[in-house]
Amino acid sequence: MTQVLDRAAAHAAKYLEAVQKRPIAATATMRELRSRLAKPLPEAGVAPEKVIDELVRDVEGGILGSSNARFFGWVIGGNLPVAIAADWLTSVWDQNAASNVTAPAEAVVEEVCGEWIKELLGIPGSASFAFVTGCQMAHTTALAAARHKLFADRNWDVERKGLAGAPPLRIVTTQNRHESTLRSARLLGIGTEAVEYVGTDNSGRIKIGNLEEALRAAGQDPVIVWLQAGDLNTGVFDPFARACPIAHAAKAWVHIDGAFGLWTATSDRHRHLLEGAEQADSWATDGHKWLNLPFESGLVFVAHPLAHRAAFSQETSYAVPLEELRNQKDWNPEWSRRGRGFPAYAAIRALGRAGISEIVERCCALATRLVDGIGELPGAEIVAKPIINQGLVRFLADDGDHDRETDEMIRRIQARGVAWFGGVTWQGMRVMRVSVCNYLTQERDIDMTLASVRDALRD
Ligand SMILES: Cc1ncc(COP(=O)(O)O)c(C=O)c1O
Repeated sequence: MTQVLDRAAAHAAKYLEAVQKRPIAATATMRELRSRLAKPLPEAGVAPEKVIDELVRDVEGGILGSSNARFFGWVIGGNLPVAIAADWLTSVWDQNAASNVTAPAEAVVEEVCGEWIKELLGIPGSASFAFVTGCQMAHTTALAAARHKLFADRNWDVERKGLAGAPPLRIVTTQNRHESTLRSARLLGIGTEAVEYVGTDNSGRIKIGNLEEALRAAGQDPVIVWLQAGDLNTGVFDPFARACPIAHAAKAWVHIDGAFGLWTATSDRHRHLLEGAEQADSWATDGHKWLNLPFESGLVFVAHPLAHRAAFSQETSYAVPLEELRNQKDWNPEWSRRGRGFPAYAAIRALGRAGISEIVERCCALATRLVDGIGELPGAEIVAKPIINQGLVRFLADDGDHDRETDEMIRRIQARGVAWFGGVTWQGMRVMRVSVCNYLTQERDIDMTLASVRDALRD
């Protein structure tokens, strides 16, 4: 029975070693992958070892090397071996993490991780939490709790009556919000038209005067103020210490998107960026980014446990004291789900606070080194220097078509296979985004990357 597992472990070990050396970009086309993988529906079963061997063979070239130390696209993070090991065991144990009855140890591990992560991120110990799939679901969960409280404060039972006929709920944010904001607004019936953008200062931080104006204009209507702790492009942090008291004075709910930026709380050098963030009403973050966990490791924290639970509990329980035993399904948007606590537990134990802090600080220092290094190359320009681990650069064309040149350079760098960056349109121009959040990335990776970008400029 375990032969197939041994086989998978051997393939995994081989992959983990190879992924740091082979081209990062996928080398197989979708057509090639389909031709290998789209076999006729099998009528009879195939031997498990053969299935695994052929799977590994057939996906060859179709696995993006996003756990490579020189993968700087999006904000994806690597994969700590200890977390992979715990993730494997999670599958082996096959616990239904819906409740403390179906998954007792997972329930306790989630409790422990919830407390540890609140402590690591500087979130008040009284906040409730849930392990969700990613930051998108963390936002949606937080906003469901916000929706409950904002309407309950106005004597409107939104879980029972829905939104039809309720006072209009709006989200006040800036253009630096992640796209996931809009999907959460769609899923919760708030609607994207209810998302209102206010201005920012030159560094992209919400302008307090504009926030005050938007809150005044909302009058008595419910408002969620959505702030960023590290935006995707420049890593900007909103001024929480000023914004939170103003929002609360207007009876608004403050949500912080700290998908990766909240982890700067572990760093003596960068923690100041989060000053006042502990005053928020909810926080969303990801474990797959800076904690380098496998995917499906989003986390949400809510400063109002009763509102959180009222939005999710299957019993209408707001008046009931919180049980001693925490049933995950009462805080999560799902019933049956995978145990998401074990990989986080393993990673935090293996790294400790010091190890997490070291990763965060190293990634930030390396992001600056990388952006500065690219900026020194002929024809390259720094668009945004990293505040933490995110930065932007672009490439200039003699004929003035810098957007085309930047996209072409991204293509050439990807084709060289040494490093991987993605492109984005930022303030109307095409730029190459630099994101450093893999625990493996070292100075030598930055040097190899700079050499490859230099070569790509000559291609
Ligand atoms: C700032 C920010 N918010 C939200 C998200 C969405 O996170 P997820 O993809 O885990 O849902 C991301 C993803 O990169 C992000 O960078």
